[in-house]
Formats: sequence, C-alpha cells, structure tokens
Amino acid sequence: MFKPEVYKQRRTALYSQNLKGIALFFGNEESPMNYAANTYAYRQDSTFLYFFGLDMPGLAGVIDFDEEKEIIFGNDVDMEDIIWMGPQPKMTDNALKAGITHVEPFKNLEQFLKSALQKGREIHFLPQYRHDNKILLESLLGIAISKQKERASVALIKAVVNLRSVKDKYEIEELEKAAAIGYQMHVTSMKMAKPGIYEREIAGAIEGIALSQGAGVSFPIILSQNGQTLHNHDHSQVLEKGRLMVTDAGAETVLRYSSDFTRTVPVGGKFSQRQRDIYQIVLDANNAATAAVKPGITYKSVHLLASKVIASGLKNLGLMKGDVEEAVRNGAHAMFFPHGLGHMMGLDVHDMEDLGEDYVGYDEEVKRSDQFGIAYLRLGRRLKTGFVLTNEPGIYFIPELISLWKSENKFTDFINYAKVEEYIGFGGIRLEDDLLVTEHGCKLIGKRVPITIDEVEETMRD
Ligand code: GLY
Repeated sequence: MFKPEVYKQRRTALYSQNLKGIALFFGNEESPMNYAANTYAYRQDSTFLYFFGLDMPGLAGVIDFDEEKEIIFGNDVDMEDIIWMGPQPKMTDNALKAGITHVEPFKNLEQFLKSALQKGREIHFLPQYRHDNKILLESLLGIAISKQKERASVALIKAVVNLRSVKDKYEIEELEKAAAIGYQMHVTSMKMAKPGIYEREIAGAIEGIALSQGAGVSFPIILSQNGQTLHNHDHSQVLEKGRLMVTDAGAETVLRYSSDFTRTVPVGGKFSQRQRDIYQIVLDANNAATAAVKPGITYKSVHLLASKVIASGLKNLGLMKGDVEEAVRNGAHAMFFPHGLGHMMGLDVHDMEDLGEDYVGYDEEVKRSDQFGIAYLRLGRRLKTGFVLTNEPGIYFIPELISLWKSENKFTDFINYAKVEEYIGFGGIRLEDDLLVTEHGCKLIGKRVPITIDEVEETMRD
C-alpha cells in the first residue's frame, strides 16, 4: 500500500467535490471458477483501492460527507480462517494502513444504512459490475438490480472520475513499474516469435513474467498471428514464417497499476517489403499522435490526426484514393482502422470503465460519435496534465469486413478494393505505447519497447 497520507489526501479531495450524504463503496469478493472454494485470482475493485487501499475480500467502505468521517466495514479472521490462511492482521490494523480509525463488523453495514435511510440521508453508490455486489446492494438498499444502473450516483461518478483521471507522483511511479514489466514481456515475446512455436508458449511465458514480477497481467493476453482479429485470445496456432504476430499485453503491479503495450513482429525476424510498408504507416500514425498530445487538445482530434496519417499512407500505396480529409471525415479509413486511438489507463487498464465510458472519455463539450470506427474511441475529451492514456493506432485487413463493404459498394470513391484484395491474409498491425500528459506535451511511460523496423529486427536477431 501507499502511505496512509496518500489515501487520506484522496478522501479529502473527495470531500471538496461538494457531495452531501454518504458514499458507499463495495470491495470485491472472491469469485468461484468451478466450485466455491476454487476461485479466480482475486482482484479488488479499483475505486475501493483508490480510496481505501486494502486489497482483500470482505470489505465495504463508507465516506460520510456531512460528518467528514470514514468507516471500514469488515470482519477479523476467526480460528477457522487462521487454520487455512494463517494469522492475519486485525481489521483495525488494516484500516490504519489507509488512515482510517473507525472499523465495524460487516454485519453492521445493514443497520448503518437503514438508519441513514430513515434519516432521509442521500446514499451515493457507483455502478456495480459484479453480480454478488449487485445482489448485496439490492438487499441493503432495496434497489432492484434492473434499476441500479440508473440509480447510481452521477455526482459521485463524476467526482471519482475527476480525481482518478489525474495521476499523482506515486501513481506515476507505479505505472512506470508496470511499464518495466511490460517491456520485458514484449521483448521476450519478440525473441520467441520463431516459426514452429505455438502462440500459447509465448503467451504463457510472458504471463509468467507478469506474475513473477507483479500481480499478473492487466488484461487477458492478446497474442496471435491472426492479428486482423482485434482482440484475439486464441493462442492455439503454430507460428508460420512470413506471418505477422501481434502481442497486446501488459502487467499489473502489486499495487494494481497497469501497463498496456502492443507490438507486431514478423515471425522469424525479418519484415517483407509489404509488411514494412504497412508497418511504417502505423508507426508514423503512432509517432504523430505522440507528438500532438498535450494539455488542452482533444483526444478525438488526435485520433483524427492518426486516422489521416493512416489514410494518406494507404493512399500512397494505392489502397485508398481520393481526398484524405474527406475520406476520414466520412469514415472510409475505418475499414482498415476500425477502433479508437486509445483509452485512459491507471488502476484499470481501461481506467474507470466500470463507471461508464462516456463519463471517463467524454463530457459536455466532446460527445461520442456514432460513426463506425470512431464510435469505439473510448477517450475523446480535452486532455489535462496528469492524464495517462494509450496511443494504439492499427491497420487491419479483415476479410469479412472487406467483403461486406465491397458487396455494398461502400466508399468506392476512397477505397481501391481490387488492390485491397491482394492483402487478404496479411493480418493486422497495431503499435501501442502508454503516455503521460505533461505540462507542455507528453512523455512515454517506461522505456519504449523496440518499435522501429530496425529495432524490432535487431531485437529478434539476438
Ligand atoms: N490493450 C487491450 C485493450 O485496450 O483492450
């Protein structure tokens, strides 16, 4: 955990967000895989970690805005727990690590909330994503699961997003650690990408790095020579010489901060000319985005800038045609780049996505577009110093999408389908870095994973 002062300062900052009543935060419980005692790796809720730091099941936290008081609800272990888990600190000692002196047994939460309701106090809660917490919320507050999303406190969501979006120096140190683990994962992946090896051998090896140096991966590893499928979790293929392999993977530190990098490498270590051409366009888009990121700019405009670099590069290769600005305005490039440029990152790899993507990535000024491609952009709003985000442009040749758009005669003024069809089987290329928005621009988090064509081939040669 960070020092108690860090958590106290975060709760103090929440008090200054002008909320009244009580905020109720659930921690996460263990989650069974195939029977109750055989659980998935435990993952605490990120907002709970942010305000209370305690990375264990069986907890709820209350912040009382009117009395400026905080309570942890949780039980001390009993003898049976000690027999199976070993001795554990008392809950009062745990709470002190987060700077909290008021601890109650978990069963007292029900009476506490009942009494608050009787007094007509407002109880703020965040959207719930775990089924057991939805059931708990229904039983404690009498709010049907089907109504919980609409009854979640928008004021609390906005306050939490305000605070968590701007990373402090302790968080940035953690993010740097996550990036260092991610670096090793990706370099290992590059070096292992040899013909004849199963994708799962590489995925397993790099997951092992994440587990041995931190809390594991920040999301299930995406690793495939079928990189045209954006989130390909199937690792059953044997790598073939001449194919491209996409690795999209990151680590979580012990304190649960994330990294998220993507690299694409030629199986066997040497890019073909066609691969080099497409790769360089994606790299140019990535570099242009990094050069543009600074406080005050909207990430939507950076996404559009990267899209124009992609459309222009594809036009130079004869895959697109016509006016680049117009093509991008109409979304023609999205056949090749059908996703957003990036998302916020922090305690979650898609930071705060549980609170609602539009609260995190959009605001009154910048609204989400419904145009195919940019509709998937998770972060569109103006950037501020301290934001941490991913920059992940890509070019993909998705046979099913190409064939659908061709059959619909879609964007024939901008897409040269005859030429595009020569690329069926190419796969996809995505290149992703993590950026911290600084006072005047941005900086990469961590040492940059080898990314130029020469750097990648050199790394794979070792
Ligand atoms: N890098 C995986 C994702 O952004 O979903």
